Amino acid sequence: MAAKTDIMEEIVSLCKRRGFVYPSSEIYGGFESFWDYGPLGIALKRNVREAWWHNTVRSRDNVVGVETGVIMNPNVWQTTGHASHFADTLVDCTSCNQRFRVDHLEGDTCPNCGGEFTEPRRFLTMFKTFVGPVEDDSAVAYLRPETAQGMFVNFKNVLNTSRLRLPFGIAQIGKSYRNEITTGNFIFRQREFEQMEIEFFCEPGTDDQWHAYWLEARRQWYLAYGVKEEKLRLRQHGDDELAFYAKYCWDIEYEFPFGWGELEGISNRTDYDLRNHSEATGQDLTFFDEERKEHVFPYVIEPAAGADRALLTFLLDAYDRDVDAKGDTRVVLRFHPFLAPIKAAILPLVKKGGLPDIAKEIVAQLQLHWDVFYDESGSIGRRYRRQDEAGTPFGITVDFQTKDDNTVTVRHRDSMAQERVPIAELTAFMAQHIRPESNPKLP
Ligand code: GAP
Repeated sequence: MAAKTDIMEEIVSLCKRRGFVYPSSEIYGGFESFWDYGPLGIALKRNVREAWWHNTVRSRDNVVGVETGVIMNPNVWQTTGHASHFADTLVDCTSCNQRFRVDHLEGDTCPNCGGEFTEPRRFLTMFKTFVGPVEDDSAVAYLRPETAQGMFVNFKNVLNTSRLRLPFGIAQIGKSYRNEITTGNFIFRQREFEQMEIEFFCEPGTDDQWHAYWLEARRQWYLAYGVKEEKLRLRQHGDDELAFYAKYCWDIEYEFPFGWGELEGISNRTDYDLRNHSEATGQDLTFFDEERKEHVFPYVIEPAAGADRALLTFLLDAYDRDVDAKGDTRVVLRFHPFLAPIKAAILPLVKKGGLPDIAKEIVAQLQLHWDVFYDESGSIGRRYRRQDEAGTPFGITVDFQTKDDNTVTVRHRDSMAQERVPIAELTAFMAQHIRPESNPKLP
């Protein structure tokens, strides 16, 4: 087994070689902490989003989705406090000039060269831009650092256009931007990244219960998609790391090769956001409780996940190097079938005898539902290996027996077991294996 840090290097190299993730603008030398997704990467990411959306929105009666803009009225960020508080405290090394986040440092000298630090200073991590033709202070706008505010400012709109009653949630998936100071660790910490967030509105007083519910529901989601239980842990934020808007926050952490890291944060944001937006705009952002004839500012539990960090976790957790009795190594990504970028490879055993035509008909049949891949080049063993490395759960081989009895060989990625399946039953066979996970029943 490779050392932990080597695994990270192996993953970065596999991602580049197979088209999961590329450095941003690579032909210009890349751009620090920006990354692009390739053909396999975007297929995997779409499946991660879909698995999340299925679990949090589609399969729940009381959560609805929205998609809001990256650039919002800049007053939003004044009201929330981000314009003044969404900052990191930094120091520079006076010898090597490297810059560090104070909360990421362990000692009081530079870990790079042992030099002295400058006095700490605050650094706003929201990206600024200008809206309109004039680049002055009145035209300054920000790229959102969290998708959450799009849900809070649309609270009234969603209430007015749905029949939702407390408790209910608003969810969205979208890009967020932070001018991060500490960079590195591949796609773990980026300056442009994607969040999957739910704002779950509930009666004040029920917030602790809902927090416990969501913490466990979200942990179960990672487990259901195959993440190893011993690699996950829950950790409460200390006062020194708690966001300015949160009463408390627990992280779901994963043991990455570079150490334990935050995968998702589940905060109790109280009525902080709705109350502040209401005061700033003069709009009524309460919920009217018909039975009690009372207006209440709901409390908010916020499960906030990162699509890129979830994807990195699924990649790392699925990565295996199997060594067989002969000492041959097989690199395999054991993705949950619903997450796998390619669901099946369709492989004619040879390029003649009409086998490619049958294989292409199967491709057309399965493509109606899933991403599949046709491959006729190289030995069948090599073709299987290529698919193992991409995490494809099924290899479907069309051979000479197919012409006699209309069956194909289906080879399972993990066990490498093979079985014969009639072509007419392939869609049903695949559908049985490629399903999103249902919500766990929690107390
Ligand atoms: N609305 C709450 C919020 O934004 P957060 O803990 O700052 O909370 C939520 O972010 C999630 O977004 C994190 O758990 C992480 O998965 C992801 N995330 C945050 N910053 C990120 C970055 N620079 N690169 C990649 N993912 C990031």
